[in-house]
Amino acid sequence: MSGGYILPRKATADDPLRLAVMISGGGSGLLALIKHQGLGEKRHVTTLVIADSDSAGGLRHASRVGISSLVIPLPEGLKGIERRKSHEDSILQALESHEVEMVILSGYMRVLTPSFVSRWKGRLVNIHPSLLPMFPGAHAQRDALVAGANVSGCTVHFVDEGIDSGHIIEQREVPVLGTDTVEILRDRIKVAEHELYPKVIDDISSGMVLL
Ligand code: GRF
Repeated sequence: MSGGYILPRKATADDPLRLAVMISGGGSGLLALIKHQGLGEKRHVTTLVIADSDSAGGLRHASRVGISSLVIPLPEGLKGIERRKSHEDSILQALESHEVEMVILSGYMRVLTPSFVSRWKGRLVNIHPSLLPMFPGAHAQRDALVAGANVSGCTVHFVDEGIDSGHIIEQREVPVLGTDTVEILRDRIKVAEHELYPKVIDDISSGMVLL
């Protein structure tokens, strides 16, 4: 396996891959995944939702359908890397106790440490609102508009130790119009994200994604 990635097992509908979805915000991507999983037999199931703040609106999507959720905020009283490590230790414990097999970052706004990534590499995926490697970082839609791009889109990728730099699994293009604001472009990209992410998770769960 290249780059230290270890993929999850090939799952079946009888024994689906157990996913944790990590969010920070409204969770429209989480909702799209939950709806997709409700459509029929899937090889993956959302077992746990983790948010880094109790103000993450997406938590309500989990509670509505009875999916376990945890709020794991940064701990008080620590600083710098010690604080991040302690935070991630709590996340790792939650993943272990819920027997999670793959972690889906869906609008999770914190950068994970290399130590965390190395434990989950190949079973840790993210969706980013641009056609990577164009416009990495937290302002992808704004950066696409400032650059005068005619086309942007979204990317599902395995997470590595860098920022938005891991192995690209699949992308969708979305047009950028001259009249777009950041909000309009963000919402147009989300429509594509909500189709692409569940589809890629289907593909990974059925062993169709190779490195
Ligand atoms: C999405 O645009 C995703 O690409 C980015 O964060 C956003 C999350 O939106 N990483 P939501 O919280 O799922 O609505």
